[in-house]
Amino acid sequence: MATDLMSNGNRPSAEDIAARRKVIEVDRLDFAFGARQVLFDISLDVREGEIMVVMGGSGSGKTTLLRHLVGLMPPQPGKVKLLDKDMGALNRRQLLDLKRRIGVAFQFGALFSSLTVAENVKLPLRELTDLEERTMDIMANMKLEVCNLSGFGHLMPADLSGGMMKRASIARAIVMDPKLVFLDEPSSGLDPAVSSALDDLILKLRDAMDISVVVVSHDIESAFKIADRITILDKGRILISDRVDAVRNSPNERVQNLLHRRSEQIDVDPTEYLRRLAGD
Ligand SMILES: Nc1ncnc2c1ncn2[C@@H]1O[C@H](COP(=O)(O)OP(=O)(O)OP(=O)(O)O)[C@@H](O)[C@H]1O
Ligand SMILES: [Mg+2]
Repeated sequence: MATDLMSNGNRPSAEDIAARRKVIEVDRLDFAFGARQVLFDISLDVREGEIMVVMGGSGSGKTTLLRHLVGLMPPQPGKVKLLDKDMGALNRRQLLDLKRRIGVAFQFGALFSSLTVAENVKLPLRELTDLEERTMDIMANMKLEVCNLSGFGHLMPADLSGGMMKRASIARAIVMDPKLVFLDEPSSGLDPAVSSALDDLILKLRDAMDISVVVVSHDIESAFKIADRITILDKGRILISDRVDAVRNSPNERVQNLLHRRSEQIDVDPTEYLRRLAGD
C-alpha cells in the first residue's frame, strides 16, 4: 500500500464506539491558572482502541487538557478517570503505577541532546523499572524498529531530521508498552510528506499494539485521516466531540470556521500573544 494512501480503515461505527470500554473519562473539568480560567466544564471520553484527535486554536487549552489527562496537573477528585482509576483519588505510588501504563510525547518534548537516541528511548525504562540493561536495550530497539528507526539508536538527536526526532519521541512514548498514548502536536513543523508518514505510524501503532491514542493537532487533514473521533476546543470549552463525519458535516458555523481556519476564529489578544512568545 502506498504510504500516502493509507488512512484510518478501522474507523468504528457510532455503535461500536459506544460499546467499548472507556479508557479515559473526563467529567465537568474546570481549570484556572490563578485568576485566568482556561478550561470550562470539559466532559469527554476516549474508548479502547480509539484515536481521539483534539483540535482548536492556539491557546484554546489543548495542552492544558492533555496535562490533566497524564497527571501533570494537580488531580481533582472525580474529574479525570484513566483506565478506570480516579486520578484525584490515588496516592503517589498509585499515580506512579498508572503513569507506567501510559506513554506521552510532549509538544516541545525534545529529546535530551546529550544522550543517544537509544538512551533517550530507554529513559522511561530507567526511571520507572528495575529492568536489566540488556532487556532495556532489547525493548528500546524493538520500539525504534516499530518507528522505522532501526540502526539509528547510536546517533545523537542533533544528527536526526525533524521527522526522525518526532518518531524517536514516539518510540520513547511507547517503550513501556502502554495501553494509552498521548501525543501533543506530533507533526508540527514537519513538511506534509513527513507529517503524513507520521500519521501512518500512529495508525500502525494503534492497529498493531491495540492502544488508545489521544493526539493534539492543528492539522485538519491529518485529523480527518487518523481520527475516529475529533474533539474541538474553543477558548477552553468543548465546541464539539464527535465522529469525524459528524464534525466534518457539522452545521455549527464556529466548527466550520475553525476547521477552515477562517479569520473570524483567530481572535488573538496581542498582549497574551506576546506573553506566550516570551514563554511565560
Ligand atoms: N503555566 C501557565 N501559566 C499561566 N497560563 C498558562 C500556562 N500554560 C498555559 N497557560 C494559558 O492557558 C491557555 C491555554 O494554553 P494551552 O497551552 O493549553 O493552549 P494550546 O491549545 O495547547 O495552544 P497551542 O496550540 O499554542 O499549543 C492559554 O491562554 C495560555 O496562555
Ligand atoms: Mg499546546
